[in-house]
Amino acid sequence: MADTTAAVTYGNYLRLEELLSLQHPRSEGAEHDELLFIIIHQVYELWFKELLHEFDRVGNLLTADESHRAQHTLKRILTILKVMVAQLDILETMTPLEFLSFRARLEAASGFQSDQFRQIEFALGAKNERALARFPEHSRARDALTKRYHAPTVWDAFLRYLSREGYPVPASLLSRDVTAQPQPSPEVQQILVDVYRRDVKNAELCERLVDLDEGLQEWRYRHVKMVERTIGMKPGTGGSSGAAYLATTVGTPLFPDLWQIRGRL
Ligand code: HEM
Repeated sequence: MADTTAAVTYGNYLRLEELLSLQHPRSEGAEHDELLFIIIHQVYELWFKELLHEFDRVGNLLTADESHRAQHTLKRILTILKVMVAQLDILETMTPLEFLSFRARLEAASGFQSDQFRQIEFALGAKNERALARFPEHSRARDALTKRYHAPTVWDAFLRYLSREGYPVPASLLSRDVTAQPQPSPEVQQILVDVYRRDVKNAELCERLVDLDEGLQEWRYRHVKMVERTIGMKPGTGGSSGAAYLATTVGTPLFPDLWQIRGRL
């Protein structure tokens, strides 16, 4: 019988033919900058996929009390976030007029509809049930987001880990409703102050979580500035007020307890 198994090549391993056929500009011509716009969004979606994969790993490693490896994974996450922030520089080489040359062809499409971005927010605790309804029932996006909505967050895995490390995390927080946003807790803040003062290993872990929080805020800040310089205060294609709405999402911490203790250290 003939061997029909093709040898692995660079092209077939990476599914290059499919990958390179996935960019379809909608403008007539097509407008030169639309390809960049598509590719950069596709690259972001791939990074989002990788981040979600790594968040799951951080959760699993904390649950297995492997804090050193969890820190190692957080370092990788932060490196990806830095690349994601830096990538906005590329899109900022597109002028407002270049964007306008094809913007109308986007119709109501918007980053608002990125389920993976919402999954990232959910994995880190910034959950909002209303986001689910924006995706069709039984779609991949809706199912994935619903699963994240009901799953414990990275913060929950961290609190449970601290409890197993011997810290007096209140039982109400260990069994809290994981679909709700984590609220600041004076008890957790006291624990964190103790960690920072006496426990180098776990203080390092806290610092990586602060890096992660700051990294996502940095992306939000750079994205809103890019939006402002590209479309000013015009409304977004997704139906929001645009830069004004995005500005409300900047500066809200994911892990408020880690920020609130800084002045006490
Ligand atoms: C010229 C470039 C861009 C412009 C003008 C722009 C504009 C906007 C606007 C106005 C919104 C608010 C929602 C709306 O009404 O549409 C938004 C949301 C969003 N955009 Fe962009 N965007 C750009 C590039 C990008 C890129 C490269 C990404 C990477 C994936 C991205 C991801 C997102 C996400 C995830 C949201 C939702 C944010 C949230 O709700 O907190 N955008 N964008």
